[in-house]
Amino acid sequence: MHETLDRLLIRKHRGCYLKYLSLIHEIEIKTIVEIGVYRGKNAEVLRKEFPDAHLFLIDPWVPDASYQASGSAVSEDQKVYDKARNRTYDLFENDPHVTIIERNSHEAAPLVPDNIDLVFIDANHAYPSVCRDILTWKPKIRSGGILSGHNFGRPRLPGVEKAVRELLPTFHLGQDEVWYQKK
Ligand SMILES: C[S@@+](CC[C@H](N)C(=O)[O-])C[C@H]1O[C@@H](n2cnc3c(N)ncnc32)[C@H](O)[C@@H]1O
Repeated sequence: MHETLDRLLIRKHRGCYLKYLSLIHEIEIKTIVEIGVYRGKNAEVLRKEFPDAHLFLIDPWVPDASYQASGSAVSEDQKVYDKARNRTYDLFENDPHVTIIERNSHEAAPLVPDNIDLVFIDANHAYPSVCRDILTWKPKIRSGGILSGHNFGRPRLPGVEKAVRELLPTFHLGQDEVWYQKK
């Protein structure tokens, strides 16, 4: 067990840290939602670390005006999103334990079952969007599950820290800018 925990921490990667959390808190993870997938890099790590879980991968792969104005958009070029989307489909479209939902976070929420074990928010990092994502997804998590997200403390993305501090006063911090709260 120690070797596994060390391996997960040495990577200093968000997906590995989420696995670490599930082990130290003994939380069984059967369903995971990632909001903001981009090229599927973190989803690949989640797939590897949680091989038995069902992954719901949510991303519109279209930069709407609010995302463009957020200061957190990965690109303004639709071709970049198309490439990222295609990469994600290449990785997961034949995996029966992955559901790809090409919608914005709040549009996707009703399409995902309730009682999710782990939600990871990594989409539009502007303050109002992070607030909305937290408020939308927190009720979708089962008691004892984990609500988490990325980029806490990054100076360029102050909205993440502000939203998390306001809405989740008992949050914790982990590696790779991960914030989380057990429900
Ligand atoms: C930082 S990238 C995600 C990186 C990914 N989580 C990883 O670690 O590999 C942010 C992604 O969020 C998506 N996005 C932006 N606004 C969104 C929204 N409202 N709902 C869902 N995804 C959104 C963007 O299209 C982009 O692909």
